Amino acid sequence: MGDYISSKERRAIIKHNRREISRLEAELREVGTNAAVMRDPANIVEFDGLKTYFYTETGVVKAVDGASFDVPKGGTVGVVGESGCGKSVMSLSLMRLLQRPHGQITGGAIRLDAPSGTIDVAKTGNGGMGGIRGGVVSMIFQEPMTSLNPVLRIGDQLDEVVALHAPQLIGRGIIKGGGRDDVRRRTIESLEAVSITSPDRVYRMYPHELSGGMRQRVVISMAVACSPQLIIADEPTTALDVTIQAQILDLLRGIKDSYVGTGIMLITHDLGVVAEMADSVVVMYAGRVVERGTARDIYKSPAHPYTVGLMRSKPQPGRKERRLYSIPGRVPNPVSMPDYCYFKDRCEYAGEACSLYPDEFAIGNGHMVSCWRKGDI
Ligand SMILES: Nc1ncnc2c1ncn2[C@@H]1O[C@H](COP(=O)(O)OP(=O)(O)O)[C@@H](O)[C@H]1O
Ligand SMILES: [Mg+2]
Repeated sequence: MGDYISSKERRAIIKHNRREISRLEAELREVGTNAAVMRDPANIVEFDGLKTYFYTETGVVKAVDGASFDVPKGGTVGVVGESGCGKSVMSLSLMRLLQRPHGQITGGAIRLDAPSGTIDVAKTGNGGMGGIRGGVVSMIFQEPMTSLNPVLRIGDQLDEVVALHAPQLIGRGIIKGGGRDDVRRRTIESLEAVSITSPDRVYRMYPHELSGGMRQRVVISMAVACSPQLIIADEPTTALDVTIQAQILDLLRGIKDSYVGTGIMLITHDLGVVAEMADSVVVMYAGRVVERGTARDIYKSPAHPYTVGLMRSKPQPGRKERRLYSIPGRVPNPVSMPDYCYFKDRCEYAGEACSLYPDEFAIGNGHMVSCWRKGDI
């Protein structure tokens, strides 16, 4: 950033953006073209070469640029990477909550095995997402107030979510009917599910009357209220203090056990959090997936120099370090990505092969790495 852009260049960028945005928006309006088939029916979501760009006045920000990975039904996938590498944009793409019109999915697919049929979210307009958000996929944000309305009582907000999905919930036998009492009963159940000991009292409270930790509990109860197939937790503990963080992680672990069949996509920059929770791990760097595999493989035998760097920069309990290691250099500018490996300039193993962006290599049982050294580091 900080590069000078002349007004002539800026006008050209704006013109280009306008043309691209209207083309992409027009494609979305073609309804009925979003049916898809899962590559593997054991998955709830398959990201397949996803590209999500932001058309800004300084150029096209390629926030996610060809990311592929699966979330198995009932599995917990940890998505890790430094801040700015596209983790949030990827999950917002799945929810279709991108800032429009300048944020657009420009390529790839996001296949979602919804109860009403498999869809490609990348081809689904806003109108097609109503039953999906909250009902099939729900999201927990870093900052609880992103999800809560400050002027409404907790109970009313939860009731609203349950009532919105009442037909599906009745169909699945989760609530008996769509009446006020049925809805309220589900709300109270959901508050109890996140270990809120006086749910009737919290039901009548406003968000500002609760502590940060309690608010995040309420947000989690809102996320589980409709028993979704997938919960995305985007840095769910980052805004909380350390003791509360541990409680919220315990809670998520409990949800994993009691809502069997619900997949969790846990996004964090903290490898320690992922180690405790995830079955498999996806490492993102500069809008792309650089390594993925089982949590065990990633921890025992990390294959990408970036993953190794992330692990080294994590504080180790019991080890006294004068200074925490941090990977030297910085993430390339997402407006003008290099045509060689994005990590090359920061990599101690970089060689001649790295002047070409690496393919993704299979180096073991589902263990994949985008590095020419194929784990030989
Ligand atoms: N609304 C937006 N407009 C323009 N650029 C954005 C917007 N949201 C995110 N970005 C850019 O997309 C990239 C990825 O961001 P993000 O997904 O939030 O990173 P992470 O969640 O991994 O920290 C960053 O370069 C960020 O600046
Ligand atoms: Mg983020």
